[in-house]
Amino acid sequence: MCGIAGYIGPRNAVEVVYDQLKRLEYRGYDSAGVAYLNGGGTIHVVKRAGKLGELGKVLWDGDGTPESGGGPGGEGIDVPHLAIAHSRWATHGGPTDENAHPHFDRYGDVALIHNGIIENYLDLKGELAAAGHSFESETDTEVAAHVIGQEYAKGVPLEEAVRQAVRRMRGAFAFVAFSKRERDKFVAARNASPLIVGLGQGENMVASDIPALIPYTREVVAVEDDRIAVLERDGVRLMDLEGKPVPLESFHVDWDVEAAEKGGYEHFMLKEIHEQPDVIRGALAGRIDDKGRVRLDQVFGDHVWQDIDRVNIIACGTAYHAGLMGKFLFERLLQLPTDVFFSSEFRYGDPILSPKSLAVFVSQSGETLDSLAALRLCKQRRIRTLGVVNVVGSSIARECDRTVFTQAGPEISVASTKAYTAQCLVLMLLALHIAQVKETPGVRIDEAVADLRAFAEKAEVCLRLEDEVKALAERFKGAPLVFFLGRNADAHVAREGALKLKEIAYIPTQESPAGEMKHGPLALVEQGTLAIFGATDADVREKTVSNVREVQARGGFVVAVTTEGDDSLDGVAEAVLKVPASRSAYLNALLSVLPMQLFAYYVAKAKGCEIDQPRNLAKSVTVE
Ligand code: F6R
Repeated sequence: MCGIAGYIGPRNAVEVVYDQLKRLEYRGYDSAGVAYLNGGGTIHVVKRAGKLGELGKVLWDGDGTPESGGGPGGEGIDVPHLAIAHSRWATHGGPTDENAHPHFDRYGDVALIHNGIIENYLDLKGELAAAGHSFESETDTEVAAHVIGQEYAKGVPLEEAVRQAVRRMRGAFAFVAFSKRERDKFVAARNASPLIVGLGQGENMVASDIPALIPYTREVVAVEDDRIAVLERDGVRLMDLEGKPVPLESFHVDWDVEAAEKGGYEHFMLKEIHEQPDVIRGALAGRIDDKGRVRLDQVFGDHVWQDIDRVNIIACGTAYHAGLMGKFLFERLLQLPTDVFFSSEFRYGDPILSPKSLAVFVSQSGETLDSLAALRLCKQRRIRTLGVVNVVGSSIARECDRTVFTQAGPEISVASTKAYTAQCLVLMLLALHIAQVKETPGVRIDEAVADLRAFAEKAEVCLRLEDEVKALAERFKGAPLVFFLGRNADAHVAREGALKLKEIAYIPTQESPAGEMKHGPLALVEQGTLAIFGATDADVREKTVSNVREVQARGGFVVAVTTEGDDSLDGVAEAVLKVPASRSAYLNALLSVLPMQLFAYYVAKAKGCEIDQPRNLAKSVTVE
């Protein structure tokens, strides 16, 4: 996700924040910018699309490094002592110079950088526009800068302006701002996006993540939600949203840099599995309004949805598995005929495409060549196209008629985990959006929205199964073959569980709908064969229990993933993992992917595999 850096102190502040951004590079970004105060009290800003080196070239007029001379603090040039900097991973608006941070308020007094999403930015932008404000970028950040500027124009100190502005914004965000009228401080605010203050001697700093701070200090404060921090050279103050002071509670970091990048986790994959509660919040952010209605601004107008008679979901690998979940929902909820294609097959399969159909491209990277080629084919055939993509500015995102972003943040581990969960959620939002537009009978938007709102917390509870899963992984690390089975949506999630185990632990798997076992795969079951059953769907549970018995009768060892409150597999399966239940069969099944991801991770770890970079695989597959 985006990176934040801020510094005040005796060093060359621009060099410090630039170095801090470099230390956050591993998280991925597509543009960067810096704002600093010079001795005369003017704010300088430099922003560039692309990698940090592009910004460095402008800052230092050399090879993009401070050592190459010139620039802020160079010979005969003031050394700046206050700077903020940002590396942006595009969400609102593409990765351009204009959209890069910092942004300014209407009067050019306040510079602001921001991580996260401001959900009500369109409403705020409307209010500001009505009051005569105009904007240079497409970002929600510029709107936030104007809101702060509006408060600041009332003559209050900057921290007060930020505090009042934060109270007007909804969403998950972290800000850092400074003003040319108050040159001895900068102000940071947090609401659900990470923000870490670093405490130094005669210098203080802030960043979105610990690795950026480690070379400068190891005394850090993890700023909590709804807090404002005021950073001066000789001290840091914290307050709550009522303006009341809050004590600073710092801790000492003794991680090395690599451990810090992984947030203390041993691998990015484990970190990304654990990020899923936040990813769920991120995928929903700004997409459910105050009235409990789904709001997807990026999709087609209502008349288009009335016209669409069929959906084709086209994707590869994990994204294909998310597509299967999409089919389940589109057909169940909307009675909208839906097919799911592997991108690599779609192109050469001479697909029959109704002119009224919609082609949905699901992709984390937005660069998968097979998916891109299938998209181009649909465009040639003048079929409407919609992307469900994680990386803003990627080819698929740019070339689709419309794109809904999964807002999962950069995924670094080759094996996809959090992107899958976000893809499934966005497909659910899409189905609910269509149901709203078409007023589909029997669809309870209020109930679905309530279930979605409670989902992140359920994912948190689900992650507490980790120790149980780890013990099972230890026991089955030597398995020659593992079955992944289920019915309905559970069967689709089982495929994803199997793919995870295959790709990172190199264990052959057999995944199939549970009812299909007796038509062939059952022949592979021997004494001790492990079969993991997704069994969250109450409608078919009795059938699933029968399939469990079939496997056990041949000596199989069954691990069942079911929902809390269901006891039908207690005492039947050899091990039962229970995930928190909601009304939605779709969400229950989706939640069961978390223990399956953890299982794959811990088996791979027990086997000593290269977890984040499994053999033969790449994160972005740009070859046919
Ligand atoms: C599996 C995995 C791959 C990708 C597939 C599509 O863990 O990551 O199967 O899902 O290569 O990639 P994207 O989603 O980038 O199009």
